[in-house]
Amino acid sequence: MLLCFGKVWTLCVLLAAPSLATIVNRTIDDTYGDEVTGQKPLYLPSRAGVWQNRTCTVCDIKPDESLAHNGTWTAVVYHPNMDEVIITLRFTGVAIYVFFITANNAGPGVSTNTSCIFTLDGDNPYSAYYSHIADESTQPLEYDVLAFSKAGLENGNHTLTIVPTGPLDSYVNVDYALYTSVLQNIQSSH
Ligand SMILES: *[C@@H]1O[C@H](CO)[C@@H](O)[C@H](O)[C@H]1NC(C)=O
Ligand SMILES: *[C@@H]1O[C@H](CO)[C@@H](O)[C@H](O)[C@H]1NC(C)=O
Ligand SMILES: *[C@@H]1O[C@H](CO)[C@@H](O)[C@H](O)[C@H]1NC(C)=O
Ligand SMILES: *[C@@H]1O[C@H](CO)[C@@H](O)[C@H](O)[C@H]1NC(C)=O
Ligand SMILES: *[C@@H]1O[C@H](CO)[C@@H](O)[C@H](O)[C@H]1NC(C)=O
Repeated sequence: MLLCFGKVWTLCVLLAAPSLATIVNRTIDDTYGDEVTGQKPLYLPSRAGVWQNRTCTVCDIKPDESLAHNGTWTAVVYHPNMDEVIITLRFTGVAIYVFFITANNAGPGVSTNTSCIFTLDGDNPYSAYYSHIADESTQPLEYDVLAFSKAGLENGNHTLTIVPTGPLDSYVNVDYALYTSVLQNIQSSH
């Protein structure tokens, strides 16, 4: 039932609203996927030897598991002569934030620069370029690096792709993403 109090139109609208929305951030881990739906990122090409994770013993860059979300990451060293490398994340919500692990000086000849293009949704795409130039004067890796964010999206299904790019090698290490989900609360009883 719709109740309105005199001229207080805004109060009337609030009471008449069928539901109230709450927004929450949810995590998509690189390995375990969406904490609610379980959907995992897609990593292509899927052939052996492209993607690195914490089980890699021969990798030049070995992140500290205790500093990575869920102790996991998925990384690739892209070479310009490789076929296309693409990471795809799907989420339902209004915002997305993607966190990388980035590298600095990891020894002679190790590819530590990061360069990639983020593209959100195919129909009306929004793209952004991310680049991290390794600091040769320091060794520590950097964690929780916000590589891409986009808020104010229409509430619905979205697809985000991450494509390493550029004329030089690119080290892309995806740790996790957050997306903002709109929860429709049960109808107010007041
Ligand atoms: C979601 O996370 C982003 C990045 O940390 C933050 O800026 C934003 O305020 C968070 N949103 C909510 C609803 O917690
Ligand atoms: C980690 O990498 C190894 C070697 O590429 C692969 O066999 C394994 O499936 C990967 N694990 C996960 C959880 O992706
Ligand atoms: C990943 O970490 C979150 C806390 O950030 C935790 O709630 C979740 O259980 C962890 N998932 C796994 C599979 O360890
Ligand atoms: C990283 O990029 C900088 C600036 O473009 C370049 O000088 C350097 O050689 C690159 N390092 C590697 C390892 O490719
Ligand atoms: C979003 O995708 C889910 C399946 O992942 C589907 O059930 C739902 O209908 C989709 N919503 C919209 C608005 O397309």
